Amino acid sequence: MEKIRVELTKNPKEKPSCDNLPFGSYFSDHMFLMNYEKGRGWYDPRIVPYGPFELAPSSMVFHYAQEIFEGLKAYRTADGTIQLFRPQENFKRMNSSAERLCIPPVDVDFCVEALKQLVELDKDWVPDKEATSLYVRPFIFATDEHVGVHASHTYIFCIILSPSGSYYPEGLDPVKIMIESDDVRAVRGGTGFTKCGGNYAASIRAGERAAQQGYSQVLWLDGVHRTYIEEVGAMNIMFKIDGKIVTPALHGTVLPGITRKSILELAREWGYTVEERLIEVDEVIDAIKTGKMEEMWGTGTAAVVSPVGELAYKGEKYVIGDGGIGELTQKFYDELTGIQWGLRPDTHGWIVKVC
Ligand code: PLP
Ligand code: COI
Repeated sequence: MEKIRVELTKNPKEKPSCDNLPFGSYFSDHMFLMNYEKGRGWYDPRIVPYGPFELAPSSMVFHYAQEIFEGLKAYRTADGTIQLFRPQENFKRMNSSAERLCIPPVDVDFCVEALKQLVELDKDWVPDKEATSLYVRPFIFATDEHVGVHASHTYIFCIILSPSGSYYPEGLDPVKIMIESDDVRAVRGGTGFTKCGGNYAASIRAGERAAQQGYSQVLWLDGVHRTYIEEVGAMNIMFKIDGKIVTPALHGTVLPGITRKSILELAREWGYTVEERLIEVDEVIDAIKTGKMEEMWGTGTAAVVSPVGELAYKGEKYVIGDGGIGELTQKFYDELTGIQWGLRPDTHGWIVKVC
């Protein structure tokens, strides 16, 4: 494995206070970089001071969005250990996104090692207040200086670190979600299952409209029939209907969330019936109207486990349960964050210790 060169910052930055830490606004002292060139592969892995890139205006990423990213977190436990949650899964998913976007794959084990080194170097940036963590953002983008549409021959891989609090200002209080019936996010054969910037660019208009009406995010329907539930802006969605856990199946349009996978594993272990299937929006509305909808929550790295208290659809508002946090939602949140913060045993081998 190629050795990672390290260049330390000469100007360490002041760290933000852990009180009221926002999500994704501060960045640590260092970043990891490596370059790719066709015929040579990934080269020059290095940890360097966090700072701007110098890129030609013709760099392909600016024109055709050949770009992918990931999101995971490093946590500080009560005894000061710093740990990551399932980092291999993120780099495996990055390779799945890479394949779809014609970006060369990365070596999963090498990336985990590089991330561990980076996080260890910037360990003082991992916040210690409850519900805070160091958000990790790996990304790859195309750098060929060319305005024809083809796969770039050169890329930059980068990892930056952001000490962060809750993604939603609501924290663990229920969020309000608007079901989007005009814009669509993905279709089969497209890029819905990847984490590419373009998916998020296309989602912003609906997100802005929802925000103007007081909703945190939109719940996407499928791009063909606008009938089936897909996912929320930055999280997968799950329902407890009549005692069963129901969530959209992964058919190529939904991001295969690592939190989703982890929560479904816990649910099955705890003896719940889990259905991964097509879910019509009308089924959800009917379940709410007939009192069968017991709980609804989203899952994601940034969002953790977020209870949904209210849904809006075609101008009508629907309150989920009593509008508060459901019992099972709370149980999932406590178990997942318990494992991530080292308060509960990691019986699944999900935790990777950094230092
Ligand atoms: N769906 C979308 C669109 C997302 O952006 C995210 C966040 O990464 C998720 C789902 C949840 O995925 P994960 O649990 O791997 O963070
Ligand atoms: C994440 O949960 O890691 C995300 O990437 C969601 C969002 C910040 C885009």
